[in-house]
Amino acid sequence: MPRLGDATRGRILYGGDYNPEQWPEETWHEDVRLMRAAGVNSVTVGVFSWAKLEPRPGQRDFAWLDRLMDLVHEHGIGVVLATPTASPPPWLGHLHPDTLPVDQDGRTEWWGGRQHFSHSSATYRRHAAAITEDLAARYAGHPALTMWHINNEYCTYDYGDEAAARFRRWLGNRYGTLDALNTAWGTAFWSQGYGDWDEVMPPRHAHYLKNPTQVLDFRRFTSDMLLECYTAERDIVRRHTPDLPVTTNFMPLWSGQDAWRWAEEEDVVSVDLYPDPRDPLGAQHGALVQDMTRSQARGPWMLMEQAAGAVNWRGANHPKPRGLNRLWSLQAVARGADAVCYFQWRQSRQGAEKFHSAMVGHAGEQGRTHQEVRQLGADLAKIGPHTAGTHVGAGIAVLHDWHSWWAGDQDGRPSTRFDYPDVLHAWHRALWEAHLTTDFAHPEHDLTPYRVVVVPQLYALTDAAIDNLLAHVRRGGTLVCGFLTGVADEDDRIRPGGIDARLRQLFGIRTLHEWWPLETDETAVCDGFRGTLWSEEIEPDGTADETVPYKGGELDGLPAVLRKGRAWYVSTLPEPDALRDLLARICADAGVRPALAGLPAGVEAVRRGDLLFLLNHGRDPVTVGVPGTHRDLLTEATVTDRVTLGRHGVAVLAP
Ligand code: GAL
Repeated sequence: MPRLGDATRGRILYGGDYNPEQWPEETWHEDVRLMRAAGVNSVTVGVFSWAKLEPRPGQRDFAWLDRLMDLVHEHGIGVVLATPTASPPPWLGHLHPDTLPVDQDGRTEWWGGRQHFSHSSATYRRHAAAITEDLAARYAGHPALTMWHINNEYCTYDYGDEAAARFRRWLGNRYGTLDALNTAWGTAFWSQGYGDWDEVMPPRHAHYLKNPTQVLDFRRFTSDMLLECYTAERDIVRRHTPDLPVTTNFMPLWSGQDAWRWAEEEDVVSVDLYPDPRDPLGAQHGALVQDMTRSQARGPWMLMEQAAGAVNWRGANHPKPRGLNRLWSLQAVARGADAVCYFQWRQSRQGAEKFHSAMVGHAGEQGRTHQEVRQLGADLAKIGPHTAGTHVGAGIAVLHDWHSWWAGDQDGRPSTRFDYPDVLHAWHRALWEAHLTTDFAHPEHDLTPYRVVVVPQLYALTDAAIDNLLAHVRRGGTLVCGFLTGVADEDDRIRPGGIDARLRQLFGIRTLHEWWPLETDETAVCDGFRGTLWSEEIEPDGTADETVPYKGGELDGLPAVLRKGRAWYVSTLPEPDALRDLLARICADAGVRPALAGLPAGVEAVRRGDLLFLLNHGRDPVTVGVPGTHRDLLTEATVTDRVTLGRHGVAVLAP
């Protein structure tokens, strides 16, 4: 099976989305000159080129792309070639309105933007397959071609009639009979029982709360339909170029796609990452997405898109201050990326993204952002041969599952004062601030590589997942579970007792009497810390080895935290410092230590292969103790016992 290493060949891929169709051909020559000067070795071409490649139905115009592929190849730059199917040309929707998606309120999503395709439309799928087939046939064997990029950020929903028909077929496969569907969906509630498959609908606009299992299944279905679109195109390009890797770019922690499942269908896992430069926790968000992508890839992965400066879709779009683009790019490499790419190479002069930064911005070659892009190219060339293909080790796994997220984050739940990603971020932040490197894993994955398994919140767990957690503890592993875990099964049916009985026994809980959600500005006082978001009225069964009680209020004296052996249950979200300290202690007890001892706050340390990355997220210079003698691959200096990192500074230390 082809891998990222087949494209990187011992380097870090550096480059980005390149949209030459927006520019006269003279500019292409300027582009390749600048690319070479910046150390760019890879461009992603064709992401939005459908109208240019197929200007009228069935016509093909590959001449411009032939010239472009030849040109970049002459300059030693590889091409990640995209199938253009994320943005069909206007003629497709005009001739075939059935290719357009319909939202839950029955509104058509028209052309004029992008991603206006129905994943369920047979007509769309046919046209997408045809252009993919011809593109793959044309460029198979072209020496510039290194990898395939299918579509772009698959993310569409469709509630229309063709989607409804496919939804019924999908449900038929899942449940076999309507009786089984009625049971799974709990349709005895509110008189929802189905007597005929034709009555079953996507969860379209409704007067009041929708059936939660119908919504859950529709999310599963949507992820599966988009995946069918992906695999159909993947199989076409694979037939033409069996030795080239295939990817599609994920949006980070996006709710619409079960990325665990998708990653199994990719040769290379890639992600688009746009932390807000003003967000004090931007680096931690980046680390979370990078850890998750690495875990999906089970090794090196590709940063397919990031911004060199500002994006154009926040309220106020802040540029990256000097050094931040380099810092966050090297952070991705530290956490396993073997490709650092951007949206996009040259900033557009027209269109919806003309205010979005690029590797060459409106300021041109002399612009600060471009100059920093050049410096980064030189840095990546230095470290690439040392990082390519190497792994990041982690003794901790944070468990995450899209199906549980889909089941848990619905209307009609006990509290809407938080969303699942907030909780996931809070737990990852605690580990990040404790300088502990973590993987992510699916609750049914093999957990034997990990000493510590952290479950921030898995509201819905299958029996197999619960068995997996129990087996981890039986093997001597440490388990830490946050609140609202093990509450429901995979049909979103509440487990008797409000938490699965086996988990209650594991933690030493006799009865979970009530959930006590907290208001946004409210905290629950516990012995030694404050809890946020949530609290629980738990009656312990007397078998716990250690408890930390709530103090005062309705829950006074009841356990906020329980530990029984190596199994911990945390019934609130401790404030950041408290959660960090708790996890640091638990991990230390389990023998899992930070990448480097005595790190100052704001400095991130990650080990990748035999390299130690040190990243200063602070604005002030800082000195870090690094016992022994090392070689800094960036400065080529020898470092003995300590190294000073400037504002946003990075050191990559080799033994
Ligand atoms: C991504 C997308 C790119 C571009 C970018 C802007 O979501 O894949 O095409 O739109 O965002 O930030």
